[in-house]
Amino acid sequence: MKILGIETSCDETAASVVEDGHRLLSNVVASSMDLHVKYGGVVPEIAARSHIEAILPVIQQALNDAGCSWDDIDGIAVTYGAGLGGSLLIGVLTARTLAIAHKKPLYGINHVEGHVYANFLTDTSLPGLQMRKTQPEFPMLAVIVSGGHSQLVLFRDHFDYTLLGQTQDDAIGEAFDKVAKILGLPYPGGPSVAKAAESGNDHAFDLPKAKMGKYDFSFSGLKTAVLRLAQAQIGESYDFPSSKLSERLSEAQKHDIAASFQRIAIETMVDKAKVAYEEFQPASVVIAGGVAASQELRKQLTAALPSSPIEYPDFKLCTDNGAMIATLGCFKMMRDQPTADPYTLAIDPNLSM
Ligand code: KG4
Ligand code: ZN
Repeated sequence: MKILGIETSCDETAASVVEDGHRLLSNVVASSMDLHVKYGGVVPEIAARSHIEAILPVIQQALNDAGCSWDDIDGIAVTYGAGLGGSLLIGVLTARTLAIAHKKPLYGINHVEGHVYANFLTDTSLPGLQMRKTQPEFPMLAVIVSGGHSQLVLFRDHFDYTLLGQTQDDAIGEAFDKVAKILGLPYPGGPSVAKAAESGNDHAFDLPKAKMGKYDFSFSGLKTAVLRLAQAQIGESYDFPSSKLSERLSEAQKHDIAASFQRIAIETMVDKAKVAYEEFQPASVVIAGGVAASQELRKQLTAALPSSPIEYPDFKLCTDNGAMIATLGCFKMMRDQPTADPYTLAIDPNLSM
């Protein structure tokens, strides 16, 4: 069974073909990130326009790379939420049209649930990917860390899960992006903070961890603490404009702040993942979402759960891609989950788990 997955929830226009829920046949990702960098964040209108230009060539490339014609495709899976409205619309309308034109079943995919399914991909002949060796087993604890979400979810089986807790304000990836802005590092903040942190001392500063409900998180206080720390480091008070901070901070100060922030932000997630692990004794733990590309997260989680060897997905499968969407589409088809009506499937920008 081969499913074409389409993902356009943010700035990546992505399409992929996945076979039987584990074999990656193609993975094409076109990003409009270059167009957003100068604004320090994704501009929704620019992202939507870029999707319109890229989507059909990206889908065709995904079919070509997989050696597939439309006859070989058994179904289409598309992200319908959560995400930017204009961006989601392009993917969903394209998928609906293709499903009607080629008479294929259509599956609407929750983007965040899709991220988790990057962990079910175990083989590919595509170059440059370090695949997991095995699929995760249930019950499975998912640590979901992206630009829009920070959640702990317990999966008892496919399509049977409970949200244990989530952030009450900013997502962890958003905190990386905001801290990068304070430090004058390029967008997206995750990779640039991680790079700056490499040459910093992660214990240079004591930053606070929010005290929340058992499995809930908060990252907005940490971001403000970084702002106050940066102001204090240059001897200014809380009303000094954040946009002028980076020119006054030394490289060494930036590196130490980045490293201290990264350690605490990741610890915040890992502490609670450990509590959940001890309470629910899952058969597997997976990480999902853009921040799952963080080396620091992998390092801390491996150290925190020594009795649970964790397999990690390839870095390229952590940030937004069509492969994770196609993989979840495969499981929907294999498990006889309901299909979406190609004439009516609507976007849901605020969809939650
Ligand atoms: O999953 P994703 O591609 O998009 C959303 O669904 O939000 O996640 C994007 C987020 C951004 O906030 C980005 O800064 C973060 O993932 N990110 C990272 C790393 N790579 C991307 N955060 C920490 N370390 C990284 N290496
Ligand atoms: Zn995402």
